[in-house]
Amino acid sequence: MTAPRRLIVGISGASGAVYGLRLLELLRGTDIETHLVLTRAADVTREHELDLSAKELRALATVHYPVTDIGAAIASGSFRTMGMIVAPCSVRTLAEIATGVTGNLLTRAADVILKERRRLVLLFRETPLHLGHIRNMLAVTEAGAIVMPPVPAFYSRPASLDAMVTATVCRALDLFDIDVGRLARWGEDLPTRPQRGDPTAG
Ligand SMILES: Cc1cc2nc3c(=O)[nH]c(=O)nc-3n(C[C@H](O)[C@H](O)[C@H](O)COP(=O)(O)O)c2cc1C
Repeated sequence: MTAPRRLIVGISGASGAVYGLRLLELLRGTDIETHLVLTRAADVTREHELDLSAKELRALATVHYPVTDIGAAIASGSFRTMGMIVAPCSVRTLAEIATGVTGNLLTRAADVILKERRRLVLLFRETPLHLGHIRNMLAVTEAGAIVMPPVPAFYSRPASLDAMVTATVCRALDLFDIDVGRLARWGEDLPTRPQRGDPTAG
């Protein structure tokens, strides 16, 4: 059974709403349907961090669900998807997923992904971490999720914050075998040996 090309995008209230935004922007140019759910706290971080209204953000998705709509399609395992990315994932959302005590549609959808053994990628953002955070990362990993803190790589020499965000989101999409053609790859687009200027020149 091939799952329809649908991806659930969850945006929670950790810093980094731009990761969710970029995910939706990059997927708009593809054949993949995006099913978006944002927490209430994500609306607060959006206000602080992005120059875009809630309506404009929601309009980037194929389908948007209110976070209170626990009867939505994505709350059921019979609704087939490729999986879900939570970008960014807050401490609170991680904790709900780790315990299974899911209080809103985002965490319910994530729990469904785990029970159906589909792919769940969490761009967990907090620092520094206490033992409870680490235990919750362990618990979700044991349940099958992939914890992917949005930590930038520097070997590609990103020219801007924007480039760093795009690279991180593309790496998350790689985990679903989705290539939007925006990632400079080591050994492909990026040289595996340092490229310095000619030492004999000038
Ligand atoms: C500007 C701002 C930045 C925040 N950054 C983080 C963060 O990086 N990580 C985190 O776990 N919570 C962060 N929070 C706190 C969460 O929004 C808060 O714990 C909220 O209850 C999370 O709820 P949610 O998981 O339902 O989105 C931030 C809040 C604000 C207003």
